[in-house]
Amino acid sequence: MSNTPNSSPAVTAPHTRRLHLRAAGVSLLLDVTEGNIPAVTHWGADLGELDAADAASIALLTTPTVAHNAVDTPLRLGILPQLADGWLGTPGISGARDDGSGFAPRLTTTAVLLDDAPVAASFAPCGPARVRFDLCDQKERVSVVLEVELLESGIVRTRASLTNTGADDYTLDALTVTLPVPLAADEMLDLAGRWGKERTPQRSRLVVGTHLRENRRGRTGHDAAHLLHLGMPGFDVRGGEIWAVHTAFSGNHRHLAERSSLGAQLLGGGELLLAGEGRLAPSETHQGPWVYGAYSAAGLDTVAQRFHRTLRSRPQHVDVDRPVTLNVWEAVYFDHDLARLRDLADRAAALGVERFVLDDGWFGSRRDDRSGLGDWVVSDEVWPDGLGPLVDHVTGLGMQFGLWFEPEMVNEDSDLARAHPEWIMAPRHDRLPLESRHQQVLNLSIPAAWQHVHDQIHAIVSRYDIAYIKWDHNRDLVEAATRSTGAAATHAQTYALYRLMDTLKAEHPGLEIESCSSGGGRVDLEILERTDRVWVSDCIDPLERQQMNRWTAQLLPLELLGSHIASGRSHTTGRLHTLAFRATTALFGHLGIEWDLAQASETELAELADWIVLYKRVRPLLFTGDYVRGGGEDDSLWLTGVVSQDRRHALYQIACVTRSDLATPGPVLLPGLDPSARYRVRLVPVSPLPPSRAHTPWADDIASPGGITVRGSGLTHLGIALPELPAESALLLELSVADGD
Ligand code: DGJ
Repeated sequence: MSNTPNSSPAVTAPHTRRLHLRAAGVSLLLDVTEGNIPAVTHWGADLGELDAADAASIALLTTPTVAHNAVDTPLRLGILPQLADGWLGTPGISGARDDGSGFAPRLTTTAVLLDDAPVAASFAPCGPARVRFDLCDQKERVSVVLEVELLESGIVRTRASLTNTGADDYTLDALTVTLPVPLAADEMLDLAGRWGKERTPQRSRLVVGTHLRENRRGRTGHDAAHLLHLGMPGFDVRGGEIWAVHTAFSGNHRHLAERSSLGAQLLGGGELLLAGEGRLAPSETHQGPWVYGAYSAAGLDTVAQRFHRTLRSRPQHVDVDRPVTLNVWEAVYFDHDLARLRDLADRAAALGVERFVLDDGWFGSRRDDRSGLGDWVVSDEVWPDGLGPLVDHVTGLGMQFGLWFEPEMVNEDSDLARAHPEWIMAPRHDRLPLESRHQQVLNLSIPAAWQHVHDQIHAIVSRYDIAYIKWDHNRDLVEAATRSTGAAATHAQTYALYRLMDTLKAEHPGLEIESCSSGGGRVDLEILERTDRVWVSDCIDPLERQQMNRWTAQLLPLELLGSHIASGRSHTTGRLHTLAFRATTALFGHLGIEWDLAQASETELAELADWIVLYKRVRPLLFTGDYVRGGGEDDSLWLTGVVSQDRRHALYQIACVTRSDLATPGPVLLPGLDPSARYRVRLVPVSPLPPSRAHTPWADDIASPGGITVRGSGLTHLGIALPELPAESALLLELSVADGD
């Protein structure tokens, strides 16, 4: 990284700073012309090496024309867009003082730092780097620190912090950071969903106006936007330029895509502040969340791969040997019985399970979901000798022990709620919010409440050999206020939660935390800074999970997706599926079992053991390789694959998610391979072809130990013609480069 002197003083005005950041095929061209607020001149395809003159010319040529009947100065769309620059769309800063002043700050840039060093030259070309812009408006008495980073993976992230530099209060309503997107990219894709059916894709065209995804649930939400994409019309998993953003926040938040009649288009995000939450006393600062941006020149898989690389490069990222987990929830629910649970542990250990998780119901009066929540003391009633006999049994079998908590919640019928009704979030002394799952929210922003919950969890985790917490959060925050003042407290609650997790992790090195929120209601990159897995959904039906896992993986790599094999009949949907379909689906994630093994037949147990052996063999590939997707000619066949970084190994599952209208829905192409390499393609024995295979010319060869040898180019461009697969079934293909290649 270096700062080069400006080679074109004629076109570069004083105080102008331009930075060209490049990484993994992405260019980010940042511009502070004449001390104006920072703007992105380009976010997209790598522009190659530029010098100062190139950057100045690009800035000049891309400056918009002054439009008729608009301000007489070219529109400047900053990362924190402002009214003062003629921007009439969503402003970066929305707020004011009590007398109404300060609603339209005119910020200027006072300093630019590149990886903490002041940028002295007018142009700085570099690789991945961190840029900090200091901005202020002395008259309106606000200052802002705007951070922009280009990561090794090509992901951009940006966030803003606003400080009230005045002598009276300033109330911030919203702080929104944005990234520009070309007008041609007007096809939009984001996610929605509900409990038990998280992350359902929705596509539409972005027309003039704002597509605003607001979340007021106090958690990331089952219906969160997850990722908001804008792409060239028709983009799919491997084709079309795409720009996407993710707001990394676990409380109320926003994602937005905006197309302005002024001739600009942007993606953005930020925290959603409830009324009064953004009130800043003199010298107080509000810091917004990171908003991540991914550019892809070739479809959705590249967006996913960039996020996966980003997460995998973190120092705290999990190892590839993600332990096979058994969670007891769908096996026993609240029926905690030591003998039964020991038996379940024995059966699990015999299968090769490596972690055993005791779910809800071990504490206080919690015999069902109506009472005891918040009392994190082992129940004498069901555990007269404490958890020791079970923990020792589980660890004695060589498995880790995990335990369920729901630290932010309380049943009204609990010792805690009786002792401290003032700790329940409520808008008034004399009224509680509506219950949800018979529970209320505990106000962790009250220091004594935070300390109490911390101490109880800390005591349990210190007393027993607990390697893992399943951290649940089973309701939305409705009227979530500090009861003594009536002031909204979702913002404070979110940061108190982060601090609680961070503290427990620091006190218990190696402790893993799973982010669960009635299934997949808290999946975002900020919760992932302090958790090691998400529970994708309470619905474990493999047909539903084909879709939910596929789209959760648009942001998260497979090792972070809790993915279980449940009983044959789904507890959520009532559908019945083969073990092969359940296991093939679950294999592409952090594998677990959630099934009363005492009810499984000997044949099922033997088959399950084979799947666990397979998972242990392929997890290094699954959790380091590139994630790819595809399918047949219509939407009846879905391909999900992982290709190793050296492209010598690959594993693909092909699932029939519905019956096709076509007798043969066309060949399925195998993406991501080295076109010139010769691969040995084998059907993984635990997932045999359906009986109709008699009509499949390659059936015997592919099932043989030698498999079929084919060039990567043939597999990627011509693929495999499949027999008709039974609806809701899947097959599994394993590829390795043939010996000698
Ligand atoms: C919701 C979770 O998603 C389930 O897996 C289970 O832990 C229950 N809560 C327990 O109450």
